[in-house]
Amino acid sequence: MAKAFEELRNGVVLAELGGYGNGDFCLQYGRGAAVVVMGTYIIDSAEKIHYPQEFVFRPGSENYQSYLNEHIKLAKENGSKVAVSAIGSKVEDIIEFFLAAESAGADFVSLCAHSAMEMFTKQGLGYKLCMPENRENLKMWVSKIISATSKPLILKPGSVWHDYIVESVRTAADMGTPIVHANLGLAFEPQSIETIKRLSGIFDFVIAGGGITGAEDARTVLSAGAGAVSVAKTAIQDRNFIEQLSNELKSNPNS
Ligand SMILES: Cc1cc2nc3c(=O)[nH]c(=O)nc-3n(C[C@H](O)[C@H](O)[C@H](O)COP(=O)(O)O)c2cc1C
Repeated sequence: MAKAFEELRNGVVLAELGGYGNGDFCLQYGRGAAVVVMGTYIIDSAEKIHYPQEFVFRPGSENYQSYLNEHIKLAKENGSKVAVSAIGSKVEDIIEFFLAAESAGADFVSLCAHSAMEMFTKQGLGYKLCMPENRENLKMWVSKIISATSKPLILKPGSVWHDYIVESVRTAADMGTPIVHANLGLAFEPQSIETIKRLSGIFDFVIAGGGITGAEDARTVLSAGAGAVSVAKTAIQDRNFIEQLSNELKSNPNS
């Protein structure tokens, strides 16, 4: 595992939650997290976008720079690293957004290849970006983002995992993507554990989650090779959950 990510090891990640995951939410719900993921933000010039409006921006840094300055500062107040997740129809728009996030203090940028929104899937984006037929497009997105930005890229594929998805994300790793964030539905189930083992042989660092409700689940996922566990729904239900889980893992990561 690469040295640069050692400080995240055995940590808890507050996963992106569109409609919730702004700076204030990350501050309130992400105490104790190694990383909080803001967003996912949609950066797009489409007319009507059915998505919580706070999380939608037209392309161009003048539309979001001050928002990012304010919210990333809030998200950092509890000492967590901050990742900012984005999706849009054009890679140039996402790069401009990521650069604005970096200048506002983001520690990671995260490409959302998880979305099932039709406006993205019909263009081969969202979760379809990791389908075999879109592999060249995935390569193009990842290589352009990596060459333009300076913070480590997290790739977040969709929640359905097949061998061909693993092969697509391997391509992204080959292009230099250091971190994958895998939502595995139920991350501690045997099939998910196999996927985590494979991903840990491909990426420098694996964030894995899906259905984590306690330290036992988290330890199962970590011992399969994940560097950190991610939590979304349980964190919304209990704003102390991330801190409690993080303390439990710190006090006894292996048993
Ligand atoms: C209300 C809600 C909103 C979400 N929004 C996003 C999103 O915008 N982008 C994304 O990549 N994943 C999103 N997710 C997926 C979560 O980040 C997470 O990967 C998934 O819920 C599995 O973790 P969990 O079982 O702990 O909830 C969302 C999940 C929920 C429940």
